[in-house]
Amino acid sequence: MSDSRPILILDSGVGGLTVLREVRFKLPFERLVYVIDDAGFPYGGWSEDGLKGRLVELVGQQIDQHDPKVILIACNTAFTLAGDELRAAFPERLFVGTVPAIKPAAARTRSGLISVLATPGTVQRTYTRDLIEAHARECHVRLVGSDRLAGMTEAHLRGDDLEDEALLREIRDCFLEEGDRRTDVVVLACTHYPFLANRFREVAPWPVDWIDPAEAIARQLARVTPRGATGDVPAAPDLAILTSGRCEAVTVRLLHGFGLRI
Ligand code: DGL
Repeated sequence: MSDSRPILILDSGVGGLTVLREVRFKLPFERLVYVIDDAGFPYGGWSEDGLKGRLVELVGQQIDQHDPKVILIACNTAFTLAGDELRAAFPERLFVGTVPAIKPAAARTRSGLISVLATPGTVQRTYTRDLIEAHARECHVRLVGSDRLAGMTEAHLRGDDLEDEALLREIRDCFLEEGDRRTDVVVLACTHYPFLANRFREVAPWPVDWIDPAEAIARQLARVTPRGATGDVPAAPDLAILTSGRCEAVTVRLLHGFGLRI
């Protein structure tokens, strides 16, 4: 029996699109509903209790409206905080989360110096500390929280210029030298940041491996998703929903480019 219900993807902004594009590639026949909680953007600065409550309520509303077969939280800030609450609140639903790619980074580093670039929320989470403890005890992991980069990504997609200096200020703390060793892996632990990866490469003090977890997340999603009718283009279009109820023309164009109707 095929399951034609949609996959729900949620982020506070356009960052989830970096994951959605991989999902579209891995699961081309699945119907997607992309929820942008722009009324709550940025998640990075929220208090923990406030954001948990918001996420449980928002996901509950979306479940009622769309009856998704899987819910992908395409946001490190949200999932590292509220993954457990969401699973507990909706035990009959399947969730796939996004967490900092510390395990692959530890497997890849040669110098043993890794940095995790994320929102201030994600770097403070116990979840993130537990990942380091579980997978990267042998490494020196530096957590770098930026309260500006997610907003800079949104602004850049809307056409604003990004000054090299401003970008470098946000990423500079990722680059650490200890004796003859230096950071060689930086984890992009906010789904917005892969859109800026090429700019990071341009301004970085030295070349590093920038880890974007999108492909691994899409692979995990593909593993757990009950399949729709493969070979059938879904009758209903893929949707984007903005919690503010407002969408600038440039965002409409962007979302259309990702195959989403608003
Ligand atoms: N894209 C989100 C993440 O992965 C968060 C951006 C924000 O709302 O601060 O962490």
